[in-house]
Formats: sequence, structure tokens, C-alpha cells
Amino acid sequence: MQALTNIAIPGAEAFYRGKVRDLYDLGDKMVMVTSDRLSAFDVIFNEGIPGRGEILTHISSHWFSLLPVKNHILETSVEKMPAPFCHYPDLLSGRTVLVKKCRRVDFECIVRGYLMGSAFAEYQKTGSVSGIAFQSGLKQGSKLPQPVFTPSTKADSGHDINITYEEMQKNIGADLSGKLKETSLRIFQIASEKLLEKGIILADTKFEFGLLNNEIILIDEALTPDSSRYWKKEEYDEAMKSGSAIPSMDKQIVRDYLNTLDWDKNPPPPPIPGNIIEKTLNKYKEIEKVILCITMEK
Ligand SMILES: Nc1ncnc2c1ncn2[C@@H]1O[C@H](COP(=O)(O)OP(=O)(O)OP(=O)(O)O)[C@@H](O)[C@H]1O
Ligand SMILES: [Mg+2]
Repeated sequence: MQALTNIAIPGAEAFYRGKVRDLYDLGDKMVMVTSDRLSAFDVIFNEGIPGRGEILTHISSHWFSLLPVKNHILETSVEKMPAPFCHYPDLLSGRTVLVKKCRRVDFECIVRGYLMGSAFAEYQKTGSVSGIAFQSGLKQGSKLPQPVFTPSTKADSGHDINITYEEMQKNIGADLSGKLKETSLRIFQIASEKLLEKGIILADTKFEFGLLNNEIILIDEALTPDSSRYWKKEEYDEAMKSGSAIPSMDKQIVRDYLNTLDWDKNPPPPPIPGNIIEKTLNKYKEIEKVILCITMEK
């Protein structure tokens, strides 16, 4: 199978091509096509991962259907979408959704249950994460006493920047910030509990929200291995005991590989070897299988 990195739909012109998704404007709606493009450190690689767009779409759509929060999905079946999209089911099925077009809140709503990545780096330097102080002695991968909301800006170009909750409040107001924080923490909690029942730890995740008629809508993607860090509980426990790196079920494989290179994380991107692509795809498939089995039944 070949990776679909460049998707052309005859008779339709994308108004935005993001790192992963192509957007088509239909007035108050949008068609969002998730390609097989792979990005890391905000750089798009020349190689895609075959079928990745479908996996990400399946995972998001499943979480959207489970989580008790309004989301942007209107239709997931390509055959029921307007022309010309409905004419290309072979190309688009499984990776395409029709959504409500929202006014995006230009902040990433990140929730962290564990200390990893940029949060760990910040903790090491300052003893706090996003302005929230934590006890000393926490290690890379330590579980936080409670999940924390650590927003970041959505930069139009370049890397997103971690900010404090107070900075977010200053920018979009205390009321909206409060609702976004509460909603993010609530759905993180629900997803974490459901995943743990399947032996998976949700270490952290990023949500995006939009506004439509004064309502908060969960948009973009939800709890995918692109927007989240997933760990197998067993492997996590073992790694914390032995002090080794925690094996990830997400893009970390690609990030780890890139960190072995002498590359400054700016374009042009280095080539990604076939075995890294295959390993990442297998992890994506594994986590997809687990997530699609989750239901909201007790
Ligand atoms: N329902 C929606 N209404 C408005 N914008 C949306 C909606 N759903 C997703 N988006 C936006 O569409 C884009 C999806 O593309 P993609 O995920 O590839 O972007 P990206 O390269 O990650 O860019 P960004 O840095 O803006 O997230 C994102 O900018 C996302 O914020
Ligand atoms: Mg995105």
C-alpha cells in the first residue's frame, strides 16, 4: 500500500493544507480529509505512513462518538457527503469527515497526567509546569498528583509555545478559559479511566476547541496517537522500575529516531527509514484496535 500524502479531488480545491489534513470550505461546513502525511516537530516529512490518515480518522471519530461534549462531526460516510466528495469513495472513505466550521480558539488545550516531554524539561528547570508548582523529586514519566491543564499557543508558523493558564485568561477571558479547562480535564479523566481498563495509560493529550453560536465545540482530532501519548501500563511500570525509557504507542518512535540524527528540526526534513515507518504504523494499528473496543458501558 502506498502512502497518500498528496490528495487531489477533481472539482474541489482545498483552501488549507495543514501538516496532516486538507480542508475544503462548504460555507458553514467543511470537509476535512486526513492524509497519510507524517509530521514531527512541526515539520512534514517526504515519506508518509500508508493508511495513517484512516487510522487517525477512525480513532478520532470513535472518541467523538463516546465523549460527553459537543463535537464538530456532521457525517463520516463519504457516500452521504455533497458532490464532488461523494463521487470518490475509493479515495476518501475512512479518512474524510464533514464537519461544522467553527471559529477556532487559537490555543491548544493540553492536559497532562504524567511528567514527560516539554513539561518535564520545564519542571527540571523551574520545579513547575505551566506555572503550577510540583513537589521536588519527580522523575521523567512520574504520575502527577492530579492531571493539569497546560495550554499552549497555536502558532501559525514555527513551534507552539507553552503558556500559563493566566496568560490564556488574559487573552480570551476568564470565562471561556475556565470552560475550556474544565471540559479538557473532564474528558481527559473519562478517556484515561476507559483506557486504563484496557491496560493503557493516557499520559497527556491536546484538544482543540472551536466556537459556534456561543457554544464550545471539540474540533480537529480527538485523542489520537498524534495528539496524545499512550503507554502500555505493563511497560510503563517496568520502565519506571528499571529506569529505562517508556516505550510509546505514538509518534515518539519517529521523534526518538530523529533525536539520534544531527538535524536542527527545521526544514528540509531528513528521510525516514522504512523500518521506522513500519514500526510506527504497527503501533498505530495496535492502539487503534484497543480504542475501537472502548465503549461507555460500565
Ligand atoms: N471544525 C473545525 N472548524 C475550524 N477549524 C478546524 C476544525 N477542525 C479542525 N480545524 C483546523 O483545521 C486544521 C486541520 O489541519 P491539520 O491538523 O493538518 O493542521 P496543522 O498543520 O496541525 O495546523 P495547526 O498548526 O493549525 O494545527 C487545523 O488548523 C485545525 O485547527
Ligand atoms: Mg493538527
